[in-house]
Amino acid sequence: MTKPAVLRSPLLAAVARPNRKPNNPHFSSGPCAKRPGWSLAALSQALTGRSHRSKAGKARLIEVIERTRLVLGIPADYRIAIVPASDTGAFEMAMWTLLGQRGVELLAWESFGLGWVTDVVKQLKLGDVRQFVAPYGRLPDLRQIDSTRDVVFAWNGTTSGVCVPDGDWISAERQGLTLCDATSAAFAMDLPWHKLDVATYSWQKVLGGEAQHGMLVLSPRAVARLESHAPPWPLPKLFRLTKGGKLQEAIFLGDTINTPSMLCVEDALDGLRWAESVGGRAGLAARTRANAAVIARWIARSDWAAYLAEEERYRSPTSVCLKIVDPWFQQLESKAQAAVAKAVASLLEEEGAAFDIGAHRDAPAGLRIWCGATVEANDVEALLPWLDWAYAHTKAGRSTA
Ligand SMILES: Cc1ncc(COP(=O)(O)O)c(C=O)c1O
Repeated sequence: MTKPAVLRSPLLAAVARPNRKPNNPHFSSGPCAKRPGWSLAALSQALTGRSHRSKAGKARLIEVIERTRLVLGIPADYRIAIVPASDTGAFEMAMWTLLGQRGVELLAWESFGLGWVTDVVKQLKLGDVRQFVAPYGRLPDLRQIDSTRDVVFAWNGTTSGVCVPDGDWISAERQGLTLCDATSAAFAMDLPWHKLDVATYSWQKVLGGEAQHGMLVLSPRAVARLESHAPPWPLPKLFRLTKGGKLQEAIFLGDTINTPSMLCVEDALDGLRWAESVGGRAGLAARTRANAAVIARWIARSDWAAYLAEEERYRSPTSVCLKIVDPWFQQLESKAQAAVAKAVASLLEEEGAAFDIGAHRDAPAGLRIWCGATVEANDVEALLPWLDWAYAHTKAGRSTA
């Protein structure tokens, strides 16, 4: 509801309330928007009430793996598994089974990468680690990475909107393994598979699937490590990928460690089929880039918002993170800044113009707009005038308070 004091504000008078709302106001960075046209009817053929081990159940799981390989262009000699506990489960499984054989390079530039650093240092307690940590908005110096050691990193830092620009910094002749959390990159950015020994992601990201199921992609070198290295720490059943020192191949051929949701499996298949219908990974990347380009054009004109990512070369096209650079906002104390950013996001939610676009709780105050492939460019276009309006409205309300 608009307060009279706000209505009188000259600040507000400059920004008219937009008429058009995004058709789909879902801009959350996870779970991300469902694909255009999705409805529950997409799940009508789900194998609910049936065993995932039945012939039909297993066929669905295999179909997810095969379509994933096709859409992502994963090499034939890489293994792909559906694993429990989303991207977190997949990445933890990789770290706990593979690390410890040699020193580790730990890269982080936002909260998820920092979470993996914490795990390696405080839980696995590995001593031979080197940390490359950059503040929000920046990338560490990738030239420092020693490829004789293992490397742990998130391709796209979802909470800072900073991603590695490519895989050129990873040696093709590396002796260590690269462990890449690719959850907000897979299906949106080109991943150089020959540079990645482990890649993980969750269904709830770029294809807009459901949460709690993770994907684990392993190179032949990662499999060789699994079969030659026995970590000194205990491994729960959920993490065990080998038996008697040999890879449990069945997990990469449609068996699962524990029971998956066949409803989520159906939804993942729906997402993959849609991905194929828009041109596979090239089509998905093009949609993502087009969405991000809409924001870039607006940012170039904006007098209050800017990218959190300082340099264009490492700016994420999926999790676009914005900071507020308006001098009025800048002079506020950090608590007040967080309150303003939160108020902008809440106002947009109340209006039904955008849901879930507040910055992550660990990130600097601001906004975060998911631009992955399931988002439509005309919805991003329709959102932008609302951002201007909501910021002006919030600022006016606070300036006159
Ligand atoms: C980079 C990154 N890593 C890990 C996660 C955790 O993913 P999940 O909750 O699917 O396990 C997220 C979720 O947003 C993420 O963005």
